Amino acid sequence: MNPDSGWQAWSEQRRDRIEQVLDRLLPPGDGAAPPLHRAMRYAVLGGGKRIRPLLAYAAGELAGALPGDADAAAAAVELIHAYSLVHDDLPCMDDDTLRRGKPTCHVAFGEAMALLAGDALQALAFDALAASGAPDPGGACTLLAEAAGVRGMAGGQAIDLDAVGKSLAIDELETMHRMKTGALILAAVRLGAACGAPLPAARAAALDVYARAAGLAFQVVDDVLDVEGSAASLGKTAGKDAKEGKPTFVSLLGLAAAKLRAEELRREAQAALAPFGSASRRLAELADWIVLRQR
Ligand code: IPE
Ligand code: IPE
Ligand code: MG
Ligand code: MG
Ligand code: MG
Repeated sequence: MNPDSGWQAWSEQRRDRIEQVLDRLLPPGDGAAPPLHRAMRYAVLGGGKRIRPLLAYAAGELAGALPGDADAAAAAVELIHAYSLVHDDLPCMDDDTLRRGKPTCHVAFGEAMALLAGDALQALAFDALAASGAPDPGGACTLLAEAAGVRGMAGGQAIDLDAVGKSLAIDELETMHRMKTGALILAAVRLGAACGAPLPAARAAALDVYARAAGLAFQVVDDVLDVEGSAASLGKTAGKDAKEGKPTFVSLLGLAAAKLRAEELRREAQAALAPFGSASRRLAELADWIVLRQR
């Protein structure tokens, strides 16, 4: 993250932008709004690093899209992500009480309303994509469905729950992480890129290599931060994975080796961007941030 590259301004502008796009997409949340509307807005707005929207915007720009062209893709991936967090925090899953520095959605609105808010956020994500001016909205919806479904996030979350108290082999752990977190990060990059001019096959493949490495790195770092971070720095309860007996990169490899793996994945992601030259600057900065972040 070279301070002269404009990264700070770029990321802040895109973050402001996605906040407004999400605000417009969500149902109104004024005083008379039903609890479901308020729960949805609570789960999505005013928090989160917005890594997935930033990846979508950056990949879109790489392919020549304007930010406005990638708004729907950026919003759709964040809506799926926010829904996955609401459900991940439920007592029947990770049973967490703190998220993005606030009480979790079910603590604030009750379990039933949190469940429904997650459901409705998922529906809204597909609605936003289907209604977008993307060149191929049907293809975009299929791509997002793959990332959110049995071969992606939901499937990975099922493996995660099943793995509690067990020890996984490293390749099983990697598969779980690639599904539960990596798939949606890959989708963010692919959906963003699809908002621009079609990429030659070799470049699309290089972008996939980048996104897969960044996606796995993301979850490795999430596992490391669960051990090294604090509730104050993370905005979510730290130390949960060990307490719950979850297999993680840290439990399998140890802290130092997990950090080395994240660093190796960062280099892999950066190397994959070589064919794009300076056009991939934002994606390169995002890979750095994903690995070097403290929250
Ligand atoms: C946390 O994701 C959940 C995982 C997929 C590991 P983020 O770290 O991107 O959470 P927010 O969006 O910034 O809150
Ligand atoms: C959650 O992974 C991944 C999702 C699909 C939401 P974690 O359970 O590790 O995420 P945190 O640590 O609670 O944010
Ligand atoms: Mg979880
Ligand atoms: Mg969790
Ligand atoms: Mg975690």
